[in-house]
Amino acid sequence: MIKQELTTSFYLADLNELNSEEIELIEDAKIALDSAYSPYSGFSVGASVLLNDGKKIRGNNQENVAYPSGLCAERVALFYVGAQFPNHKIKTIAITALSKSFEIEDYISPCGACRQVMAEYEEKQDSKIRILLHSPNNKVLIADSVEDLLPFIFKSPFLKKY
Ligand code: THU
Repeated sequence: MIKQELTTSFYLADLNELNSEEIELIEDAKIALDSAYSPYSGFSVGASVLLNDGKKIRGNNQENVAYPSGLCAERVALFYVGAQFPNHKIKTIAITALSKSFEIEDYISPCGACRQVMAEYEEKQDSKIRILLHSPNNKVLIADSVEDLLPFIFKSPFLKKY
C-alpha cells in the first residue's frame, strides 16, 4: 500500500485586487441574493455566470418544503445557461452568500453536486471555468478550474470505457 498526496492551488485575494469584470460579476451574484428562495434554511446563495460574449446569468438557491426537491444557486444558474445558451462558453462563475441568522465570515464553498456540474460543463466546452468564491468581508478565493476544487472527478471516459 502506498500513501499518495494530492496538492491543489487557488488564490486568496481582496476584492479590490480583482479586475473590473470580476468585481462586477461578484456584484451581480450579490444582486442574485435578492431573489433566493430560502425560507427553510435562511441561508441565501447568489451566483452569477459570465459567458464568453459578456452575458451574465444569475441563479440563486430555490428551496422546497420537500427539502431534496430544492436546488443550489450554482446549478440554477448553470442549468439555465445549459438550457438557454447551450453553445456559449462559460468563462467565470461568482458565488456569494448571506444568512438571516449569522454573519458569514468565510468563503461560500460550492457543494459536491454543484462542483460535479461545473466539471460537466468544463468537459462539454473543453475549457476551464474560473470560480470566484466571495466572502461577505470582501475576501475572494479564486480557482482557475473546478479541477482544483474537486479531486477524482467522475468524467465521461469512465462511462465510455465499458
Ligand atoms: N446552497 C447553495 O445554493 N449552494 C451551495 O453551494 C451550498 C448550499 C444552498 C442549498 C440550501 O438552499 C442552502 O444553501 C443551505 O444549504
